[in-house]
Amino acid sequence: MPTIADRSTSAFTGVTPTKRRLRSNSTAEDEIPATPPAKWKSPRRCINSSPKSPSNGIEKEFSDKLATTSRSPLKKSSNNLFAKPKWNPRDAEQLRVVKEALHVSTMPSSVVCREDESKKVLEFCKTSVERRKPGSLYLCGCPGTGKTMIMEKVKQSLLNWSNEVEIEQPDVLFMNCTSLSKSSEIFTKILQNIQPKKKISGSTTALKHIQNLYVQDGESGNRMMLLIIDELDYLITKDREVLHELFMLTTLPFSRFILIGIANAIDLADRFLPRLQSLNCKPSVLTFRAYSKDQIQKILQERLVGLPYKAFQPQALELCARKVAAASGDMRKALSVCRSAIETLESEMKEIASNSEKLSIENGSSDQENVPAAPVSREMDIVQIHHMAVALSKTYRSPVVETIQSLPQHQQIILCSAVKLFREGKKECNVGELNKSYNSVCKSAKLPSVGILELSSMCKALNDQGLLKLVRSQKGEKLSLKVDASDITFALQGVRLFRNFLQ
Ligand SMILES: Nc1ncnc2c1ncn2[C@@H]1O[C@H](COP(=O)(O)OP(=O)(O)O)[C@@H](O)[C@H]1O
Ligand SMILES: [Mg+2]
Repeated sequence: MPTIADRSTSAFTGVTPTKRRLRSNSTAEDEIPATPPAKWKSPRRCINSSPKSPSNGIEKEFSDKLATTSRSPLKKSSNNLFAKPKWNPRDAEQLRVVKEALHVSTMPSSVVCREDESKKVLEFCKTSVERRKPGSLYLCGCPGTGKTMIMEKVKQSLLNWSNEVEIEQPDVLFMNCTSLSKSSEIFTKILQNIQPKKKISGSTTALKHIQNLYVQDGESGNRMMLLIIDELDYLITKDREVLHELFMLTTLPFSRFILIGIANAIDLADRFLPRLQSLNCKPSVLTFRAYSKDQIQKILQERLVGLPYKAFQPQALELCARKVAAASGDMRKALSVCRSAIETLESEMKEIASNSEKLSIENGSSDQENVPAAPVSREMDIVQIHHMAVALSKTYRSPVVETIQSLPQHQQIILCSAVKLFREGKKECNVGELNKSYNSVCKSAKLPSVGILELSSMCKALNDQGLLKLVRSQKGEKLSLKVDASDITFALQGVRLFRNFLQ
């Protein structure tokens, strides 16, 4: 017989069924206290601004670090990545498989970096079901911290567990509040899912029906009801009445409701918990902290580890993890940046293919069959740091990075030359020294250079834009960078011309 869990999952959340069960090796000391609400972790600050001045993963120390940190939990996965054959992004199927592994709607087969949270939530649910005890739990944390994913996994684990230990399976309803036109609609939606045939008009009547369903001698027999309400933020009204009514379901006499509310707003708890406490239905609180750089990297590697080929340079994944962690720790963002980096690789490959086609036409060979395939470097076949840098700059647009990216080519070369010069330890230089560095960059790039007078006037233009600092003294003009060198490196990383100089 289909349970409510079956119906609601497909009707409301559209989440794919889980493939693997969580371990249920918990101990009594992990139990969430039944009455006093506990705050397990303090939230980490959510920074939504762009990640400024990244300590770029572009530098060589990246690969050295990855290769040598023996204590790193990432080592095993990194090694796996190194051992695999490279993928062929020209193969549509291989491309699709990698993109799918990184898609937000793809449920990962195993959960890493959220073991503690999963265990706590699962233990809470198991205890409530086993002891037939009502209760509520409030999960909060910034977007993309895995709250919804964990609840999906826990739901499945709970149902499997109750089967195994032969405890009556609870009914489960997983609802997302984003689609509600007004907050009070939640009660009619809940009822529609529990009793699809019931014709009820009005949220008050619906609430009354729900209240009667899972109490002693209620219409639903003897089952417990696990009510998971995602995106609780959408239920906030001025008087918060809907929220209160919802949590009060767990305080009705002989209630069989277990309520889990999920919200992104980390201050929501402070705003509505005091009132819930006075109503005697204050939930336990579990905060999901933003992911750190190491966690994001590990999660990305774990999602890719099952693939038969290596699609990403490890340093590219590390760069992504570093930037996303610095900005928000949002895993959804990390996944979307990785997918965008794949698209950057795709367009680069198209560009190379069309250039070589043009070249063969110019060479007078129109017979395609006789034209040898364009030589393509094997390194081109995987997502590298510069693809990731482009994807990141598309995601986190910063005014400085944008300004640098839109400069005329020779002004960009000047900045690149300055970065190169200052890497050698200097903090400032004169125009002559910069000119020397500029000429060497132009020469290596096989570009004609401009004269020192023109270079000097371009430096003035860069000074006016706040990118260089030009100070006139009796000893002559002194130049220094007015923006972080890593912003210049980051902005120009996607331009092939600069790659050799900025690495
Ligand atoms: N620990 C993790 N392991 C694998 N993927 C994760 C992890 N945490 C989050 N994700 C992925 O990141 C995306 C956002 O997670 P989600 O649970 O929707 O976040 P939230 O509900 O906190 O906003 C989803 O695609 C999810 O699969
Ligand atoms: Mg969510």
